[in-house]
Amino acid sequence: MSVVVLPLPGAEAQAASLAQLLDATAGSLEFRRFPDGESYYRIASDVSDCDVVVVGALRDPDPLALGLWYVADTAREMGARRIGLVAPYLPYMRQDARFRDGEAVTSRSFGRFVSQAFDWLVTVDPHLHRYPTLDIVYSIPSVVVPSAPAIARWLQANVTRPVVIGPDSESEQWAGDVARRVGCPSQVLTKTRLGDRHVEISLPEPGLAEGRQPVLVDDIISSGHTMAEAVRHVRSAFGAAPLCVGVHALFAPEARRLLLDAGASQVLTCNTVPDASNAVDVLPDIAAAVRPLLQAGA
Ligand code: R5P
Repeated sequence: MSVVVLPLPGAEAQAASLAQLLDATAGSLEFRRFPDGESYYRIASDVSDCDVVVVGALRDPDPLALGLWYVADTAREMGARRIGLVAPYLPYMRQDARFRDGEAVTSRSFGRFVSQAFDWLVTVDPHLHRYPTLDIVYSIPSVVVPSAPAIARWLQANVTRPVVIGPDSESEQWAGDVARRVGCPSQVLTKTRLGDRHVEISLPEPGLAEGRQPVLVDDIISSGHTMAEAVRHVRSAFGAAPLCVGVHALFAPEARRLLLDAGASQVLTCNTVPDASNAVDVLPDIAAAVRPLLQAGA
C-alpha cells in the first residue's frame, strides 16, 4: 500500500516529519490565493490508488477550512483510496454547547463538515469538556493522541523533581496523567472565569512543592490569562518561578508577554501548532496512531 502525506499550507514541516516516521511519500500541494481571495489548490503528487494523509495546521482554521474539502475531494477525484486527516490541533472544540439561543455550536458543525470530507481523523488532546468523546461530533473513526507521554518524556529528560500543576479543574486530565507518568505529585487549582480576558485562580497547597520545580500544564494557551494568573499564584505560594507547558500554542498576540511579565521561567509547547515555543515532539505518538488506521484500510 502506498501512502502519500500532503500538507495543507502551514503544515509542511509537520507533514514532512510525519511522512518520514510513516515511511510514506512526502507529497506536494500547491496553494495560492487569487487576487479576489479565492483559493487555488493543486495536488502535485500522484495519489491514485494511494492512501492519503492530509496534515492540517488549523490554529486559524477559517482561511483553510474550505481547503480541507477541496484537497480531500480532489484526492478522491484523482483516485485516492482512503483519505485521513491529521489535525494535531483540532479547532472549534470549545464551542460545545448553545449558551444563547441561535448560537452556532461550531464543534458539531465543523465535525459534520470534516466527517463528510475524510475517512478518519487523528488529533492530539482535543478540548473534550462537555463531550465525553470525539464520536459525539465526528461520525468517522477518530483517534485521540494523548500529549501526556511526550510531555512526561520531556520533563523526565529536562526537569529534576517537578510538581505538575493544572490551572483549572479541566486541566486535571492532562496534569494528572503527566504526573503519574513522571512519578511526581500533581495539583489542580480552581479557576473562576470572569470574562474573556479575566480569570481568578485559587491558591495551591504550598507544602506539596517543597524542593520541587513547579510545572504548569494546560491544553491550550490562547489569551494567556489562565496560565498567567496561575503563574502569579504559584510564584507567590511556592516562591518559585513555574515552567509553563501548553499542549496547543494558540498564543493571541499579547499572550507571551503576559506569561513572561507574570514571571514564568520558561514557556514551551507541543508541536501541534507550529510555533517557536515548540519543544515537545508529539509526532512519533501521532505516527503510532496513524499506522493502524492505514493498516486497517490496506
Ligand atoms: C479552558 O477550558 C482551557 O483548558 C484553557 O485553560 C483555556 O482555553 C486557556 O485560555 P486562555 O489562554 O485564553 O486563558
